[in-house]
Amino acid sequence: MRTQVVVIGGGPSGLLLSQLLHVHGIDSVVLERKTKDYVLSRIRAGVLEQGFVNLMEQAGVANRLRSEGFKHDGTLIAFEDESFRIDFREHTGTPVLVYGQTEVTRDLYEAREATGGKIIFNTDDVAIHDADTDTPCVTFTVDGQQQRIDTDFVAGCDGFHGISRQTIPLSVRREYEKVYPFGWLGLLSETPPVHEELIYSLSRRGFALCSMRNENLSRYYIQCSLSDNPDDWTDSAFWNELKRRIPQEFADRIVTGPSIEKSIAPLRSFVTEPMHWGRLFLCGDAAHIVPPTGAKGLNTAASDVHYLHNALREFYETGSSEGIDSYSQNALARIWKAERFSWWFSSLLHRFPDQSDFDLKMQRAEIDFLRTNKAAQKAMAENYVGLPYCWVEPRRYR
Ligand code: APR
Ligand code: PHB
Repeated sequence: MRTQVVVIGGGPSGLLLSQLLHVHGIDSVVLERKTKDYVLSRIRAGVLEQGFVNLMEQAGVANRLRSEGFKHDGTLIAFEDESFRIDFREHTGTPVLVYGQTEVTRDLYEAREATGGKIIFNTDDVAIHDADTDTPCVTFTVDGQQQRIDTDFVAGCDGFHGISRQTIPLSVRREYEKVYPFGWLGLLSETPPVHEELIYSLSRRGFALCSMRNENLSRYYIQCSLSDNPDDWTDSAFWNELKRRIPQEFADRIVTGPSIEKSIAPLRSFVTEPMHWGRLFLCGDAAHIVPPTGAKGLNTAASDVHYLHNALREFYETGSSEGIDSYSQNALARIWKAERFSWWFSSLLHRFPDQSDFDLKMQRAEIDFLRTNKAAQKAMAENYVGLPYCWVEPRRYR
């Protein structure tokens, strides 16, 4: 078999990349280790930057997102019993769109299927060969049969635990990591959201987040210990703890109900450099992870897809390899800023086990500065709605 681009991983990065390549007449094959149902059972954040929405438009996959997504013009930040609002529209002229990542992935699968996209599920032993030459190939097994695809390029969209990043030799690769000493316990329930916008809350007992999927589906999180087991948290223990961590007016109003999902996610900041080796390009979680505070995971993946599909398009349309040569530099320039924002927002809103009295005063002062200072609010809003996609070097394709 032969194709122009082998995409490893059928998560949102791989599917969006493959769909955008298709729109520009570039062939790809997606290899996914799991089944479609498995991929669609993962519950992830649901806040989309405008840049992501634009890419979905370009990919021709934005109909449902446009009709069912909820535009949010701001968010609430709560500290102990007080809350204040950051107005995205006032500061940036742009809202964010609340639409679950599971739905994004479902829409992308439908679009790939409708446009004849080739996706091979249940692939094992995927291996990338000769990525540092102009004739790479990818081998894998499916249904017990070994297969080989010859290709021009390989896009490593296989998430944090994938094989693509490991293919880049250690002599070339440098990894940066920060692991946070707590997790998020998340609960999904078929109840109306407590408020029409998200509430990010810091209390003496730790962080809490009130989020949503739609009018009757709410997603809540509380900071928890990494040694906690979600099965040890009864629904009522969760609701009680959540209520103690948000201002009283919301605690009084919250509608509780049985959980339909409950899980613990660790918090990590991670970046690998470079994101390009020969004809192999990393995209999304394969190259970087952010803590979920600020919901940048999917949005940073989309940013890579923006740079990579434009670079590949430039290569096939003009023969120039300028875009692919500078992919890593361009992608990383934006990724590090999203990493900075997610790290800052996480540091602002969590209780850390080793926080001194001085650290607590600093955290309180920082929140108070954000509450009262328009410039600080504008900086926060610009980062939350998403920094622009720009090229480090001026480029033709935007
Ligand atoms: N071969 C084939 N597929 C693989 C392999 C492999 N060796 N290893 C992993 N995969 C698949 C996984 O099963 C998964 O479906 O790659 C996909 C990677 O998807 P994600 O982990 O969702 O990563 P990505 O597409 O980059 O999406 C980034 O989604 O994961 C969230 O928090 C993340 O929001 C962020 C966004
Ligand atoms: C979510 O809805 O799951 C969500 C929203 C915002 C975040 C993180 C998660 O910052």
